[in-house]
Amino acid sequence: MNPFLEKQIIDAKNNGLSDKEIGEKFGVNLKIIEKVITKKIGINISKILIEKQNKVNLTPKNFKLENNTVWSFKSRGNWATHNGNYRGNWSPYIPRNIILKFSKENDIVLDYFCGAGTTGIECKLLNRNFIGVDINPQAIELAKSNLNFNDSLFFNSKINFFTGDARNLQFLESESIDLICAHPPYANIIKYTCDNPNDLSNLEPNIFLKEINKVAKESFRVLKPGKYCAILIGDLRRNKDVIPLGFWVIEEFIKEGFLIRELIIKRQHNCKTTGFWYTNSIKYNFLLLAHEYLVVFEKSQNKIVNQYYLNKNEPFFSLNDPNLSIDYNLNTNLESKTVWVFNKLNWKNNVIFNLIKRYSKGNFLIYNFDKLENKKYDLIIILNIIDLSKITDLIKNNLENDGILSIICEDIRQGNGIIYPSAINVEKNLRNIKEIKIKEIVIISLEGNNNFLSDENLKISHKYLLVYKKI
Ligand SMILES: C[S@@+](CC[C@H](N)C(=O)[O-])C[C@H]1O[C@@H](n2cnc3c(N)ncnc32)[C@H](O)[C@@H]1O
Repeated sequence: MNPFLEKQIIDAKNNGLSDKEIGEKFGVNLKIIEKVITKKIGINISKILIEKQNKVNLTPKNFKLENNTVWSFKSRGNWATHNGNYRGNWSPYIPRNIILKFSKENDIVLDYFCGAGTTGIECKLLNRNFIGVDINPQAIELAKSNLNFNDSLFFNSKINFFTGDARNLQFLESESIDLICAHPPYANIIKYTCDNPNDLSNLEPNIFLKEINKVAKESFRVLKPGKYCAILIGDLRRNKDVIPLGFWVIEEFIKEGFLIRELIIKRQHNCKTTGFWYTNSIKYNFLLLAHEYLVVFEKSQNKIVNQYYLNKNEPFFSLNDPNLSIDYNLNTNLESKTVWVFNKLNWKNNVIFNLIKRYSKGNFLIYNFDKLENKKYDLIIILNIIDLSKITDLIKNNLENDGILSIICEDIRQGNGIIYPSAINVEKNLRNIKEIKIKEIVIISLEGNNNFLSDENLKISHKYLLVYKKI
């Protein structure tokens, strides 16, 4: 890029202009601004002038532990030295909940994608020992400075930082860590360094997954048996289709022997739902990504590998028969994001209404595994027991070209508290059917009457809607 323009962008940043203002002034997009800053400063931050904060509020106001599987924080949280300057850093509410629920005081917590140190700040506040690792030495410097607050007798945790690679944690002994709490890059959607080949944010999704597998292996090695590893990961969108990076990353951890203790949906509030985006979501028929997956893996005392994966011919878990009464002329706005929030009592009607309005010209089928005539539909909705062995024939015989197949799945908590991740398994089983391509992963968040006694486990309060397109 023209060095003069680069300088102008840096100067504008130094003068406190926002990304939007810089974009308008110099005719550049956010990707370019990020690139210029990362090249110049060495880290991908949104504000160059980071004022040293000496805040008095060291705890969030009215904090309550989350008790169900959909987490939504309207503001990201700015107590202690937390701020949103480091691009893509996570809300401190996430590590706070995880640390409180899955570790105890004086435990050793590891974040091997430490970034600006959000997890470390929470460890310091909550009296956990912390090990922060990041591939970028400048991110480590930023984290150190963020953890340098109110040093007093109140805080006595041991804090250690390493510039290092999450794929190779040789400086840590096996079975030495009580909790891993980390937030990887989502392949290459936000780049954290300009040209570091070991920075996973410089990798295309398929290579990224192979490398994440090494991270999963190392996580399994360093974690004590019976302990937990929490990872936040999101999906990507290429053109108008989702790339289910989240599910694929989860699979890599399962392959290495981890079980799923919690599969949480973290809602994102930074996507627009009105005007331009709403219109485009309808016009080009795609949903705006509005969720990420926060998975709490458990390293069981005994190594069990792949215990989740069902044989293709086994029937899936069922949902109750629907009792549907849809008003197809309902004059309601369509959902335009990947999280659909409905009341527990009428969610099915709303889901079906949205599917029909978005994908069908009226020629749809709600399939309940009865025998079918040789007729084709533009939309097939599966709400009930899924016998996956029938899906291939259904697609071949009953779905129009360009037609949509949509399947509702739910996570099942097994007797031992471990989650059976149905949607991940359906996606895995259907991935190799050449005639279809995954288009959307929608989260149906169920609201209403959430007054339950919280026990050790989170209450499962969401379902998944997998949307496939016939190609
Ligand atoms: C999503 S950010 C983490 C942000 C952090 N949770 C926070 O709140 O500041 C991902 C981090 O992973 C780091 N990273 C990328 N590849 C890495 C690798 N191979 N090993 C360790 N860190 C890596 C990047 O430098 C970046 O800081």
